[in-house]
Amino acid sequence: MNGQSPLRLGILGSGKGSNFVAIADACAAGRINAVPVQVLSDVEDAGILAQARQRNIPARYLSPGKFRTRLDEVAEQTWVASLREAQVELVVLAGFMRVLKIGLLSAFAGKIINIHPSLLPAFPGLEAWRQALDYGVKVAGCTVHFVDAGIDSGPIIGQQTVPVLDGDTAATLHERIQVAEHELYPACVGKLAHRGFCVQGRRVLGLSPRA
Ligand code: GAR
Repeated sequence: MNGQSPLRLGILGSGKGSNFVAIADACAAGRINAVPVQVLSDVEDAGILAQARQRNIPARYLSPGKFRTRLDEVAEQTWVASLREAQVELVVLAGFMRVLKIGLLSAFAGKIINIHPSLLPAFPGLEAWRQALDYGVKVAGCTVHFVDAGIDSGPIIGQQTVPVLDGDTAATLHERIQVAEHELYPACVGKLAHRGFCVQGRRVLGLSPRA
């Protein structure tokens, strides 16, 4: 480690939470210099909340408000307040199925990352693995990127490929992509926690000693 205090992670998810588990386990094992301090979900019975509680990490359901695809303005302020109260330094979207709007984006500008199950910029949006399979690509994968106001469009931090096999179904391809996600996401969080990067335009670059 680099002697700095662990990066405080706030993790947002709507689903089963396997990416959260990969990150939390990497933190607990000391493989990355970070600590999950809060897990928030917009789904009351989401697996991610149960996974967090099993690990004694504070976990809360917070109402998303009146919309289906995003947080409403009132809810957004509650989510921001909760993350601020926990002194979150990096917001990590791990299967969070709502589009972030200006309230959260501006409160944590440049400090929100996401994982997406395709090699962006190909196949943004929902069920990206199914889009890749239907398109007929031979290589699929996952991407970790900074979040901006677009859909899966911010600067790319890291990517990992997986092959698409002839016998694949949407389920088997997603399963293979998830194995890659569980390696890539902790590695990218570790890179950010080490503060060994800079952003030039759309390019996220590693810092070498000579840079
Ligand atoms: C992951 O495959 C992630 O890439 C995807 O949701 C899944 C969550 O799984 N996210 C998106 O599609 C966001 N556009 P998990 O709950 O087991 O981490």
